[in-house]
Amino acid sequence: MRWLVCQFLIVVGCIAQQVAFDLYDEGVNLEESLITRYYKKANDSLLWGPYRSALYFGIRPRYPKSLLSGLMWFSVNDYQSIGSMRHFYEQSDNMGRANWVAYDPRIGGRQIIEDNDCHVTITIDFVKSTDGLSWGTKVKAEPHAGYEETKISFVWYSGLEGEKQSDNGVDETEIERTGYFKLSNQKNILGYEDNLQFAGISEELGAFELEINDGPKKNRHPSGSEVDADLGLDPSLAHHYSLRVPDDNTWKARDIFITMLQESVKDLETNIGTIGQLAPENLFIIRDLHNFEGNLHFVQKVYQGSCEFDVIYTNALTPTPERITFQNIDKRIKANAERFDANFAEHFQLQKPFQSEKYMGFAKEILSGLLGGLSYMYGNHLVDRETVFDEDTFESHELKGSFEGPHELFTLVPSRPFFPRGFYWDEGFHLMPLIGYDSDLVLDIIKSWFNLIDDEGWIAREQILGPEARSRVPSQFQVQSPHIVNPPTLTLVLTSLLETISETNKFGDIAEPNNLDTDDKTEEPELGNFLMKNPEVLFNYTREIYPKLKSHLDMFRKTQQGYIEEFDRSIENNEVFRWRGRTKTHCLASGLDDYPRAQPVDVAELNVDLISWIGIMTRSLRLMAEILNQKDDIADLEDIEKNIKNNIEKIHWSDQNNAYCDVSVDDDDEDVFVCHKGYVSLLPFLTRLIPESDVQKLEHVIDMITNPEELWSPFGVRSLSKSDSNYKTGEDYWRSPIWINMNYLILKSIQEYYNTSINLMSSGLRSKFEDAYHDLRLNVVNNVFKQWEKTGFVWEQYNDETGEAKGAKNFLGWTSAVLLMMAMPERIIN
Ligand SMILES: *[C@@H]1O[C@H](CO)[C@@H](O)[C@H](O)[C@H]1NC(C)=O
Ligand SMILES: *[C@@H]1O[C@H](CO)[C@@H](O)[C@H](O)[C@H]1NC(C)=O
Ligand SMILES: *[C@@H]1O[C@H](CO)[C@@H](O)[C@H](O)[C@H]1NC(C)=O
Repeated sequence: MRWLVCQFLIVVGCIAQQVAFDLYDEGVNLEESLITRYYKKANDSLLWGPYRSALYFGIRPRYPKSLLSGLMWFSVNDYQSIGSMRHFYEQSDNMGRANWVAYDPRIGGRQIIEDNDCHVTITIDFVKSTDGLSWGTKVKAEPHAGYEETKISFVWYSGLEGEKQSDNGVDETEIERTGYFKLSNQKNILGYEDNLQFAGISEELGAFELEINDGPKKNRHPSGSEVDADLGLDPSLAHHYSLRVPDDNTWKARDIFITMLQESVKDLETNIGTIGQLAPENLFIIRDLHNFEGNLHFVQKVYQGSCEFDVIYTNALTPTPERITFQNIDKRIKANAERFDANFAEHFQLQKPFQSEKYMGFAKEILSGLLGGLSYMYGNHLVDRETVFDEDTFESHELKGSFEGPHELFTLVPSRPFFPRGFYWDEGFHLMPLIGYDSDLVLDIIKSWFNLIDDEGWIAREQILGPEARSRVPSQFQVQSPHIVNPPTLTLVLTSLLETISETNKFGDIAEPNNLDTDDKTEEPELGNFLMKNPEVLFNYTREIYPKLKSHLDMFRKTQQGYIEEFDRSIENNEVFRWRGRTKTHCLASGLDDYPRAQPVDVAELNVDLISWIGIMTRSLRLMAEILNQKDDIADLEDIEKNIKNNIEKIHWSDQNNAYCDVSVDDDDEDVFVCHKGYVSLLPFLTRLIPESDVQKLEHVIDMITNPEELWSPFGVRSLSKSDSNYKTGEDYWRSPIWINMNYLILKSIQEYYNTSINLMSSGLRSKFEDAYHDLRLNVVNNVFKQWEKTGFVWEQYNDETGEAKGAKNFLGWTSAVLLMMAMPERIIN
C-alpha cells in the first residue's frame, strides 16, 4: 500500500518541476505565447467530458486510449430488473425524460433522467476544475411518489486502456508503457465502509486519483436478508471487483459485470444451496471471488429511498485550491449553473413570443442536449473501395468492407439513443446554433472532421469508429463506400464562420491582430470567442485546409458527374450531377433516403438537390479563395458557380410544374422532368441559387410552400407534397413528415430573398413572404415545444397532420435548429 502513495508523490514532484521549468523558459515571441497558451488552455478545457454520449453517463478524455468511466444502475426491488440494467442510452427504455438540462462542455453541467421502470429520477451533475484536468460528479436519485422505499443499485466503473502491464503476455511490437490504475484501500472482500480510493498513472494523464464516497449520512441502505457476513453480500457496504480486460473492451462493462454476477450467483448456489432466501439486494451484489486486480474496476452500491454519492477524479497537476472535493462539489455545481445561465442569456436572445420562463427552460435544454451529444471516438472503420455499383439493375449491394484507420473524431451526434455517431450532413446543422455561442468549439469540430478527408477528397458519410460505435450499427450499414457522397454542409459552416468573423473584422487588417501582440504575458486567453477576436487563427486554418477542400469539391464534381453526351443533351458545360449509389427505393447519399426519384431508375438521371449542394459548395470555396486572395481560383470557381446557376434554370426548372425537378429520360431517351414536389424541389431556393431578380420563380416557390394541398401544414413544412402519388407511402421517412433542419433553411431563405429582392416584389408577394415567415416560425417552434412537454423529448420528425413526434428520440441533432428559430425576429425584417 504505502509504496503506491510514494510512487504517486514522486511522479507529482517530477511533473511539478517540469511545469515550473516550462514557465520560466517561455518562448521569446510574445504573440506566439498567447496563441500557444490559448491552444493549451482550449485543449485542456475540452479534455474531459461525457464524450461516450451513447451512454446515459460515460466519461472519457480526448485521448485514443485512456481512462474510460461509466455509470450503470438497476432496481433491486425484484429479481427481474437486473435484466434491464441501465448503461447504454436505449430508444426503448421507459424514460420520462433523459437529457442534459444545463450543460457546456467547457464547464460541465446537469443531466436529468426520469427512469419510470426504476421509479426514480436521477440527477447527474458533472463539474470540471478550472484547469480542465480534473472533474467531479454527483449522482442523486429521488424516488417517484408512491415508491419512497424503492431499492436501487448503482455501479460505477473505470478502466484504464492503452497501458501494458509488464507481467502481461508481452507483444514485442508494442511500445512498453508502464501505466497502472489500482485500488488504494486495504483490500476487503467483504465490502468497504470507507470511501474507495484509486490511484493511477498514464502517459497522457500523468498521475491521478479517483475517489468514490458513500454520500451523506442521510443515505439509507436496505437491510437485506440475514446472511452470513463472510459471504460479502452486505448491502450497506460498497463492493469492489476488478479484472484485466484488453484494450477496446472496457465499453463492454455491462456484459462483463453481468457475467461476473452470474458467476457469483452460481457460486452461491454451490456453496449455500438454495439462493431463494436471499433478497435481490443481497443476491445481486458483485463479489470479489478471485481476489485479483486488473485495469478495470467496478464499484457497486445499494441504496434505499433517496440517495446520493460522488465520484471525484483529481489530476496531480491541478493546484490544490482548484481541486474538486467532496466538501466543495455542491458549491461548484451551483456556481456552474449560474455560469451556464449567464452564458446562455448572453448568447441567445429569444424573441417574441418565446421570452417567458417556460420557453427559456426549453431553449436551455435544447442547447444542453445538443452539446451533451459531443463525443470523442477513436478506432478503425469499414470501407469498401472495390465494389462498383451495378447500374444495370440498381439492386442494393452487400458491401464487403476492410478496416481503415484508426481515426479520431470529435463530433456531435444526431441522437444519443439512436444515432450515437458522426453523420456528415447532420453535422453542419449541429454546428449552426453554436457559431455565435462558442465559435472556437465549432472550429475544433470542423477541423476534426476535415482531418478525415482522404487523398481522393472523400470522407465517409457515417463515421462509425471503433468497436463501441460499431456495436450500435446493424452490420449492413457499417461499411462505407467512396462512391457515396453526402450534402456538404460542413463547408457551409466554415464559410459562415468566415463571414461572421469578417463582419466584425477585416482580414486586410491582420497585420495588426487584435490582441495577439499584447505584451501582457499574464493575459488570459478567453475561450469561446478567441477566433472572433483573433481572425488570423481562422484565416491561417482556412489557408491550411483550402487545398483539401478544393480536392473535396473536385471529388464531388468528378464522381457525381451526370451524363451529357451519352444522351445527346445540349448542355454547354459539365456541371450537371447524379447521386451515385442509388437503389430502386433509396438514395442514401442525398440524405433524403426514400424521397421519390425517377422510376425506373436510370443512369440518365440528373438531380436538382445535388447540383444545388455542389453549387453552394462552390460558392463557399469561392469565398474562401477571395479571402485567401487566390486569384486564379476565384475566376475558375466563379465560372463553375455561374454554370451551375444557369443549368439549374435551364435543365431543372419545369414551366409545366412551376417547380425545380429532377430530370431523367423517357423510352426514346428524351429528357423528361421527374417532379415530386417537396424538399428536393426547394433545394435551389434553400441554397439561394435562384437569381435574386427572378421574382416569378420566387413566387412559385413560396406558393408551393404555403399551399396546404402541397407543403404547408400547421406544424411546419412537410417533406413531400400532399398531392404527390408517393405521399405517405412506403416507409414514409421523407414522404410527408416534417423535418426541422429543412424548416430552418426555409425560414432563412425566406428572410434572405425577402431582403435581397424586396424592391422587385409586388406588394402581394411581399405579404406572402412576410406571412410565411411569421407563421412558419411559430408553427414549428410551438409544435416541437408542445411535443417536448407531452413526451419529455425532442424528436427526429413530426407528423404533418397531427404534429405528433416520431422517429428517433432525444434527437438533438438538427432538431436543435428550433433554438435558432426562437432567436429569430418575430416578423421578417430587412
Ligand atoms: C490540441 O489538441 C489537438 C487535437 O487533439 C492537437 O492536434 C494539438 O496538438 C493540441 N495542441 C496543444 C497545444 O496541445
Ligand atoms: C499565421 O500564419 C503566419 C504565416 O505562416 C504566421 O507567421 C503566424 O504566426 C500565424 N498566426 C497564427 C495565429 O497562427
Ligand atoms: C439585408 O440586406 C442588407 C444588405 O443588402 C444587409 O445589410 C442586412 O443585414 C440584411 N438583413 C437581413 C435580415 O438579412
